[in-house]
Amino acid sequence: MSKDSTPVGKEHFAYIAAHTIQEDAFLRDLRAAAATAGLPEIHIAPEQAALLQILLKLRSARHVVEVGTLGGYSAIAMARALPSMGKVRTIEIEPKHAEFARSWIARSDVKDRIEVLVGAGQNLLGMMPGNSADVVFLDADKAGYVGYLKEAMRILRPNGLLLADNVLADGDVVKKTRLSETAKAMQAFNDAVAATPGLRAIILPIGDGCLCGVRD
Ligand SMILES: C[S@@+](CC[C@H](N)C(=O)[O-])C[C@H]1O[C@@H](n2cnc3c(N)ncnc32)[C@H](O)[C@@H]1O
Repeated sequence: MSKDSTPVGKEHFAYIAAHTIQEDAFLRDLRAAAATAGLPEIHIAPEQAALLQILLKLRSARHVVEVGTLGGYSAIAMARALPSMGKVRTIEIEPKHAEFARSWIARSDVKDRIEVLVGAGQNLLGMMPGNSADVVFLDADKAGYVGYLKEAMRILRPNGLLLADNVLADGDVVKKTRLSETAKAMQAFNDAVAATPGLRAIILPIGDGCLCGVRD
Protein backbone atom coordinates (compact mmCIF):
# COMPACT_ATOMS: atom_id res chain seq x y z
CA MET A 1 0.00 0.00 0.00
CA SER A 2 1.36 3.45 -0.87
CA LYS A 3 2.00 5.94 1.91
CA ASP A 4 0.24 9.30 2.11
CA SER A 5 1.47 12.06 -0.17
CA THR A 6 4.46 13.98 1.17
CA PRO A 7 3.21 17.17 2.85
CA VAL A 8 4.40 20.13 0.82
CA GLY A 9 4.94 23.50 2.52
CA LYS A 10 6.40 26.87 1.55
CA GLU A 11 9.99 25.60 1.72
CA HIS A 12 9.17 22.71 -0.59
CA PHE A 13 7.51 25.07 -3.07
CA ALA A 14 10.63 27.25 -3.03
CA TYR A 15 12.70 24.13 -3.68
CA ILE A 16 10.40 23.07 -6.53
CA ALA A 17 10.56 26.57 -8.06
CA ALA A 18 14.36 26.57 -7.80
CA HIS A 19 14.53 23.22 -9.61
CA THR A 20 12.15 24.13 -12.43
CA ILE A 21 12.77 25.85 -15.78
CA GLN A 22 13.52 29.46 -14.87
CA GLU A 23 11.66 32.53 -16.03
CA ASP A 24 13.50 34.43 -18.78
CA ALA A 25 14.28 38.16 -18.83
CA PHE A 26 11.41 38.96 -21.24
CA LEU A 27 8.71 37.50 -19.00
CA ARG A 28 10.34 39.06 -15.93
CA ASP A 29 10.24 42.45 -17.64
CA LEU A 30 6.63 41.88 -18.71
CA ARG A 31 5.63 41.20 -15.10
CA ALA A 32 7.39 44.34 -13.88
CA ALA A 33 5.85 46.49 -16.64
CA ALA A 34 2.39 45.08 -15.94
CA ALA A 35 2.69 46.03 -12.27
CA THR A 36 3.84 49.53 -13.23
CA ALA A 37 0.86 49.82 -15.60
CA GLY A 38 -1.48 48.97 -12.71
CA LEU A 39 -2.46 45.45 -13.80
CA PRO A 40 -3.13 43.07 -10.91
CA GLU A 41 -0.18 40.80 -10.09
CA ILE A 42 -2.05 37.56 -10.70
CA HIS A 43 -0.13 35.99 -13.57
CA ILE A 44 0.63 32.30 -13.30
CA ALA A 45 3.87 31.50 -11.47
CA PRO A 46 6.98 30.57 -13.50
CA GLU A 47 6.74 26.94 -12.34
CA GLN A 48 3.14 26.81 -13.58
CA ALA A 49 4.34 28.17 -16.92
CA ALA A 50 6.88 25.34 -17.01
CA LEU A 51 4.15 22.79 -16.27
CA LEU A 52 1.91 24.18 -19.03
CA GLN A 53 4.77 24.06 -21.52
CA ILE A 54 5.56 20.44 -20.68
CA LEU A 55 1.90 19.40 -20.98
CA LEU A 56 1.46 21.23 -24.29
CA LYS A 57 4.57 19.59 -25.69
CA LEU A 58 3.45 16.14 -24.49
CA ARG A 59 0.11 16.70 -26.22
CA SER A 60 1.88 18.02 -29.39
CA ALA A 61 -0.63 20.87 -29.10
CA ARG A 62 -1.22 23.22 -32.02
CA HIS A 63 -4.44 25.01 -31.03
CA VAL A 64 -4.80 26.41 -27.54
CA VAL A 65 -7.66 28.47 -26.10
CA GLU A 66 -7.13 30.50 -22.93
CA VAL A 67 -9.75 32.36 -20.90
CA GLY A 68 -8.06 35.20 -18.97
CA THR A 69 -5.19 36.94 -20.78
CA LEU A 70 -4.24 39.66 -18.28
CA GLY A 71 -0.83 40.91 -19.53
CA GLY A 72 -0.13 37.98 -21.85
CA TYR A 73 2.32 36.17 -19.55
CA SER A 74 0.75 32.70 -19.77
CA ALA A 75 -0.20 33.12 -23.44
CA ILE A 76 3.42 33.84 -24.36
CA ALA A 77 4.67 30.97 -22.20
CA MET A 78 2.22 28.55 -23.85
CA ALA A 79 2.87 29.83 -27.39
CA ARG A 80 6.55 29.03 -26.90
CA ALA A 81 5.63 25.34 -26.51
CA LEU A 82 3.79 25.25 -29.87
CA PRO A 83 5.14 24.57 -33.34
CA SER A 84 5.54 27.63 -35.59
CA MET A 85 2.07 27.19 -37.14
CA GLY A 86 0.45 26.77 -33.71
CA LYS A 87 -1.95 29.31 -32.20
CA VAL A 88 -3.03 30.48 -28.74
CA ARG A 89 -6.41 32.26 -28.81
CA THR A 90 -6.65 34.12 -25.55
CA ILE A 91 -9.84 35.79 -24.29
CA GLU A 92 -9.83 38.92 -22.12
CA ILE A 93 -12.78 40.99 -20.94
CA GLU A 94 -10.81 44.10 -19.85
CA PRO A 95 -9.74 46.25 -22.83
CA LYS A 96 -6.86 47.73 -20.79
CA HIS A 97 -5.44 44.26 -20.09
CA ALA A 98 -5.90 43.21 -23.71
CA GLU A 99 -4.12 46.32 -24.98
CA PHE A 100 -1.16 45.77 -22.63
CA ALA A 101 -0.98 42.09 -23.64
CA ARG A 102 -1.08 42.92 -27.35
CA SER A 103 1.78 45.39 -27.01
CA TRP A 104 4.00 42.84 -25.24
CA ILE A 105 2.99 39.98 -27.52
CA ALA A 106 3.91 42.16 -30.53
CA ARG A 107 7.50 42.40 -29.32
CA SER A 108 7.76 38.77 -28.18
CA ASP A 109 9.37 35.88 -30.07
CA VAL A 110 5.90 34.31 -30.58
CA LYS A 111 3.89 37.28 -31.88
CA ASP A 112 2.52 35.28 -34.84
CA ARG A 113 1.24 32.51 -32.60
CA ILE A 114 -1.10 34.51 -30.34
CA GLU A 115 -4.43 36.21 -30.97
CA VAL A 116 -6.07 38.27 -28.23
CA LEU A 117 -9.88 38.26 -28.36
CA VAL A 118 -11.66 40.94 -26.35
CA GLY A 119 -14.96 39.98 -24.74
CA ALA A 120 -16.59 37.74 -22.16
CA GLY A 121 -15.26 34.19 -21.96
CA GLN A 122 -18.66 32.54 -22.10
CA ASN A 123 -19.72 34.44 -25.26
CA LEU A 124 -16.48 33.95 -27.14
CA LEU A 125 -16.10 30.28 -26.21
CA GLY A 126 -19.67 29.79 -27.43
CA MET A 127 -18.67 31.05 -30.89
CA MET A 128 -15.79 28.60 -31.28
CA PRO A 129 -16.36 25.47 -33.35
CA GLY A 130 -16.55 22.06 -31.69
CA ASN A 131 -13.55 19.72 -31.81
CA SER A 132 -11.21 22.61 -32.61
CA ALA A 133 -8.76 22.88 -29.70
CA ASP A 134 -6.03 20.65 -28.30
CA VAL A 135 -5.91 22.54 -25.00
CA VAL A 136 -8.27 24.84 -23.08
CA PHE A 137 -6.73 26.77 -20.17
CA LEU A 138 -9.10 28.49 -17.72
CA ASP A 139 -7.69 31.37 -15.69
CA ALA A 140 -10.41 34.03 -15.47
CA ASP A 141 -13.49 34.79 -13.32
CA LYS A 142 -14.02 31.82 -11.04
CA ALA A 143 -17.83 32.08 -11.14
CA GLY A 144 -17.62 31.37 -14.85
CA TYR A 145 -15.65 28.12 -14.58
CA VAL A 146 -18.62 25.72 -14.57
CA GLY A 147 -19.95 27.30 -17.75
CA TYR A 148 -16.46 27.26 -19.30
CA LEU A 149 -16.18 23.55 -18.49
CA LYS A 150 -19.23 22.80 -20.62
CA GLU A 151 -17.87 24.81 -23.54
CA ALA A 152 -14.40 23.30 -23.13
CA MET A 153 -15.81 19.77 -23.43
CA ARG A 154 -17.44 20.81 -26.70
CA ILE A 155 -14.40 22.64 -28.08
CA LEU A 156 -11.75 20.08 -27.10
CA ARG A 157 -10.67 17.41 -29.55
CA PRO A 158 -10.42 13.80 -28.34
CA ASN A 159 -7.40 13.52 -26.01
CA GLY A 160 -7.52 17.29 -25.59
CA LEU A 161 -6.37 18.82 -22.31
CA LEU A 162 -8.47 20.86 -19.93
CA LEU A 163 -6.26 22.97 -17.63
CA ALA A 164 -7.56 25.31 -14.92
CA ASP A 165 -5.78 27.53 -12.41
CA ASN A 166 -6.76 28.41 -8.82
CA VAL A 167 -8.77 25.27 -8.17
CA LEU A 168 -7.55 25.17 -4.53
CA ALA A 169 -8.82 28.73 -3.92
CA ASP A 170 -5.91 29.67 -1.64
CA GLY A 171 -6.48 26.42 0.23
CA ASP A 172 -10.09 27.35 1.13
CA VAL A 173 -11.59 24.74 -1.18
CA VAL A 174 -11.55 22.22 1.70
CA LYS A 175 -13.44 24.53 4.09
CA LYS A 176 -17.02 23.61 5.01
CA THR A 177 -18.19 26.90 6.49
CA ARG A 178 -17.67 30.61 5.85
CA LEU A 179 -16.51 30.04 2.32
CA SER A 180 -15.48 32.90 0.07
CA GLU A 181 -17.31 33.26 -3.26
CA THR A 182 -14.12 32.03 -4.97
CA ALA A 183 -13.94 28.91 -2.81
CA LYS A 184 -17.63 28.16 -3.49
CA ALA A 185 -17.07 28.60 -7.22
CA MET A 186 -14.03 26.33 -7.16
CA GLN A 187 -15.86 23.65 -5.19
CA ALA A 188 -18.66 23.77 -7.76
CA PHE A 189 -16.15 23.54 -10.60
CA ASN A 190 -14.13 20.67 -9.08
CA ASP A 191 -17.38 18.79 -8.38
CA ALA A 192 -18.58 19.42 -11.95
CA VAL A 193 -15.27 18.14 -13.35
CA ALA A 194 -15.52 14.98 -11.24
CA ALA A 195 -19.08 14.44 -12.53
CA THR A 196 -18.23 15.01 -16.21
CA PRO A 197 -18.27 11.76 -18.17
CA GLY A 198 -15.29 11.30 -20.49
CA LEU A 199 -12.97 13.60 -18.55
CA ARG A 200 -10.08 12.19 -16.47
CA ALA A 201 -8.70 14.86 -14.18
CA ILE A 202 -6.22 15.40 -11.39
CA ILE A 203 -5.47 18.45 -9.27
CA LEU A 204 -1.77 19.24 -8.99
CA PRO A 205 -0.79 21.38 -5.98
CA ILE A 206 1.29 23.79 -8.05
CA GLY A 207 0.64 27.50 -7.61
CA ASP A 208 -2.95 27.84 -6.37
CA GLY A 209 -3.86 24.39 -7.67
CA CYS A 210 -3.76 23.40 -11.30
CA LEU A 211 -6.44 21.05 -12.55
CA CYS A 212 -5.27 18.91 -15.46
CA GLY A 213 -7.80 16.80 -17.32
CA VAL A 214 -7.88 14.86 -20.53
CA ARG A 215 -11.08 14.20 -22.45
CA ASP A 216 -11.65 10.80 -23.98
C1 LIG B 1 -5.73 35.59 -13.30
S1 LIG B 1 -5.85 36.75 -14.59
C2 LIG B 1 -5.15 35.87 -15.97
C3 LIG B 1 -3.67 35.67 -15.83
C4 LIG B 1 -3.03 35.16 -17.11
N1 LIG B 1 -3.62 33.88 -17.50
C5 LIG B 1 -1.55 34.95 -16.88
O1 LIG B 1 -1.18 34.03 -16.14
O2 LIG B 1 -0.75 35.73 -17.43
C6 LIG B 1 -7.55 36.76 -14.96
C7 LIG B 1 -7.95 37.63 -16.14
O3 LIG B 1 -9.26 37.23 -16.53
C8 LIG B 1 -9.96 38.38 -16.95
N2 LIG B 1 -11.41 38.10 -16.87
C9 LIG B 1 -12.23 38.22 -15.79
N3 LIG B 1 -13.48 37.87 -16.11
C10 LIG B 1 -13.47 37.51 -17.41
C11 LIG B 1 -14.46 37.04 -18.31
N4 LIG B 1 -15.73 36.88 -17.92
N5 LIG B 1 -14.08 36.76 -19.57
C12 LIG B 1 -12.80 36.91 -19.98
N6 LIG B 1 -11.82 37.36 -19.17
C13 LIG B 1 -12.14 37.65 -17.90
C14 LIG B 1 -9.49 39.47 -15.99
O4 LIG B 1 -9.73 40.75 -16.52
C15 LIG B 1 -8.00 39.12 -15.85
O5 LIG B 1 -7.23 39.84 -16.76
